[in-house]
Amino acid sequence: MSKALKDMEKANARVEELRRLIRRHDYLYYVLARPEISDAEYDKLFNELKRLEEQHPELVTAESPTQKVGGEIAEGFAPVRHSSPMLSLDNATSEADVREFEARIKRIIPDAAFKYVCEPKIDGLGIALVYERGAFVRGATRGDGRVGEDVTHNLRTIRNLPKVLRGPLARYEQLEIRGEVFMWQAAFQKLNRDLEEAGESTFANPRNAAAGSVRQKDSRITATRPLDVTLYQLAASSPSANLGSHWEVLEAFRASGLPVSPGARRYRNLDAAIAYHDEMEAKRSELGFESDGVVLKVNSLAQQEALGFTTHHPRWAIAFKFKSQQARTRIRRILINVGRTGALTPSAEVDPVEIAGATISRTTLHNADEIARLEVREGDLVVIERAGDVIPHVVEVVPEPEHKSRPKFKMPTRCPVCGGRAHRPEGEVVWRCDNAACPAQLKERLLHFGSRRAMDIEHLGEAVVNQLVDRGLVKDFADLYHLDVETLASLERLARKSATNLHEAIQGSKGRGLARLLFALGIRHVGEHAASLFAQHYGSMEKLLSATEEELAEIYGIGPRIASSLTQFLAQKENRRVIDRLQDVGVKMTEQTAAGGKKPLAGKTFVLTGTLEDFSRDEAKVAIIRLGGRVTASVSKKTHYVVAGADPGSKYDDARRLGIRVLNEAEFKKVIGQG
Ligand code: IVH
Repeated sequence: MSKALKDMEKANARVEELRRLIRRHDYLYYVLARPEISDAEYDKLFNELKRLEEQHPELVTAESPTQKVGGEIAEGFAPVRHSSPMLSLDNATSEADVREFEARIKRIIPDAAFKYVCEPKIDGLGIALVYERGAFVRGATRGDGRVGEDVTHNLRTIRNLPKVLRGPLARYEQLEIRGEVFMWQAAFQKLNRDLEEAGESTFANPRNAAAGSVRQKDSRITATRPLDVTLYQLAASSPSANLGSHWEVLEAFRASGLPVSPGARRYRNLDAAIAYHDEMEAKRSELGFESDGVVLKVNSLAQQEALGFTTHHPRWAIAFKFKSQQARTRIRRILINVGRTGALTPSAEVDPVEIAGATISRTTLHNADEIARLEVREGDLVVIERAGDVIPHVVEVVPEPEHKSRPKFKMPTRCPVCGGRAHRPEGEVVWRCDNAACPAQLKERLLHFGSRRAMDIEHLGEAVVNQLVDRGLVKDFADLYHLDVETLASLERLARKSATNLHEAIQGSKGRGLARLLFALGIRHVGEHAASLFAQHYGSMEKLLSATEEELAEIYGIGPRIASSLTQFLAQKENRRVIDRLQDVGVKMTEQTAAGGKKPLAGKTFVLTGTLEDFSRDEAKVAIIRLGGRVTASVSKKTHYVVAGADPGSKYDDARRLGIRVLNEAEFKKVIGQG
């Protein structure tokens, strides 16, 4: 056989293999929303296939993944045909690639000067929305690019997706608008905490969470998920919209109430667009959403039309990827951390490795299911990834012959801290330590008790709590209030002055009120909001203690799950005893209710954005202030609520980024007692 023939056979075999791999990963990503490899690994496979096909054009077939977009339709959703295929984007991983992109389009339109619009490439789920005469009528996922899944009822639950358009786009017969559904990192983390508390399975990243939520069969569940949309393409309009540039499209979107990419900007030339990429890459961890690059788009729509599409991507746009946030390292040990609710969470100690400027020596392993899925074992070589400022996680195990001889990881059946029985309750993914007196749980509960949104005890940090528990000085919350300065000053690394401050902070926390106290007690499912609803409704611990589970569940905003959890908590003798002892030391057990003291919003800070229907800005402000709340101009970590009317501004994004609760007008009315 000639050498050329042999080469070709080898290439053919590899091409087949790559196509098989890519199809499998497309299926996992688009259909099951459960990718098994990272985007970077996927891109590597894809680029290798592209390269081989370029070298051996005779091997290209119409079915090759390079010739179409991945994905197929899952069962259970009605199919929707897109007005034109929803394509993918071509990738650039270096400045040279981007310059080559411009050289390419200059060959197609010689002498043209190209201006660009740059947007962050948000890692979410592509969607297509149809509006008819300004009303949202249909929404679909990308599916196989040509036919997607009808997820209209789920998309309707997304707060920042306008159901009715205003402004310039409201009068069109029909529009098809495309964009991305995603989750802000803060919202994603809170969702995972809530899911974990409820013993449900958590999501590995915001993209999976967004995809899983949009493709939910029950839209009531979707409604509880913190989803957002961002829109970046007018795919069709009738009659035709006379817009000259992509930037004008984005402006028309904004003016019509359609949210556009946070951080979209336009530039006069490629150098400026490249600078944008570098700037966004430097700010990557502060963006608040997961992004693996920026998208550069030729601004002129006439030029876009002249450039056209391949079967895979538009020729007028390119995704300029950020540097990979991945690295290879070895797992030293798998460790178990015990949380406030007794949840045993595995993590791994790894050989220190640098990723994008930070040295990583710990990674999360999520839960036992995740370890089993990844098949991680101690000693394995793994790919780890840092996404945003989230703790790094293991992406995959690098195959090594030694892997098989390493022992499989098993969750311990005893709590590593107290030795108590650990088990996995029926139907839950999380393993728990049963021992309520477990010191690890006590430490976490004390830290929560003293945290800013709970009893707000300054200086009650980890070092202090560890010593208080290890020395047996504190066995429950009430013990904190019996500590004197002398005892505190005897702790290591705590000077007398600091001991005095801590003592004052502890004593000073007695007056926080019932809402904060209920939250501080760390009752499962009773978050800040539920705690304040209970406090508002009953006004005192005494009245709350005499309420039945049914009565609790009837309070607006409290479901059966929360009511049952609180009832169970209060039914336990030890918990009642702690509450009695807290009362004995003078911890305040009442809350002024709206009906009584009329200051239910005391200590709460609000920010207003967008236009409310039933209130002017000033009226809304007055209503808040009358009830004891404060209104500030900008959103910070100290903000409690952002009230978002129609067409909210950047404060809305700030709230999402910081994980602050956003109230729509109806919810705001309830908060101020007018609902
Ligand atoms: S434009 C025909 N702009 O990335 C052009 N896509 O890898 C279609 N994406 O399918 C895409 N942010 O789901 C565009 N600002 C942005 C984007 C964006 C995220 C997603 C989109 C697309 C995928 C391609």
